[in-house]
Amino acid sequence: MRKPLIAGNWKMNLLYSKVPEYLQTLSREINAKSHLKRDQVDVLLAVPAPFLGIAREYGEKNGILIASQTVHEKADGAFTGELSIPMLKDLGIRWTLIGHSERRQYYNETDAAVALKTKACLDHGINAIVCVGETRAEREGNQTETVLKRQLEAVLQQTGKADNFVIAYEPVWAIGTGLTASDEQAQAAHAFIRTVLRQKLGGAADGMRILYGGSVKSSNIKGLMQQPDVDGALVGGASLDPVEFARIVDCQ
Ligand code: 13P
Repeated sequence: MRKPLIAGNWKMNLLYSKVPEYLQTLSREINAKSHLKRDQVDVLLAVPAPFLGIAREYGEKNGILIASQTVHEKADGAFTGELSIPMLKDLGIRWTLIGHSERRQYYNETDAAVALKTKACLDHGINAIVCVGETRAEREGNQTETVLKRQLEAVLQQTGKADNFVIAYEPVWAIGTGLTASDEQAQAAHAFIRTVLRQKLGGAADGMRILYGGSVKSSNIKGLMQQPDVDGALVGGASLDPVEFARIVDCQ
């Protein structure tokens, strides 16, 4: 059985001074759902770098995992503005997103760079949530599977293990647009992703979590979570409100 993982990605939003209140509200809202067993779902927030320390402190108290939104593959050096895995570990952070489409689009993160970052995370025992997904033009050109395979194989060439490794399928056309992939589109992409993972990782791929991301809200999460290969969500805009995010956590 794969334990669901509901992850929020704050992107470049919210403020340091609001972090304690947000985490306390989220925890209170989740706890108020008495049917929801805290140990049956992992809840995670990927926060801006300056918030990592305080978010970890309040996350730990409230049973919420905290992640970085990106990381550099080198342990240290002259890389102005970057953040290393030893720095994350020193802060008590054990999770990071890698290769979000906004990093690929605005900061030229290539498949090769995503692969190196993932390898560095897995080598250091940090959990990597690797984002993949096609653009609208690629979907309309029937290139979805070709793109997913290329993005995944780049990573799988560098990493031969399934531990500490989560995939987030985020169709670029569904991010921040209000357009969600239908339950069937999400399932088809997730099943394809698992097939590609299985080719390289064998049966271990069946234990890997594949998250869906792209305009997830409390109104559409249930249908997505009913799909056999959808093991959780990566939520952008709707994660900025702790009350709405708690409703999404309550997704079973
Ligand atoms: P939205 O939920 O705002 O569409 O963002 C999805 C996303 O990019 C999460 O990483």
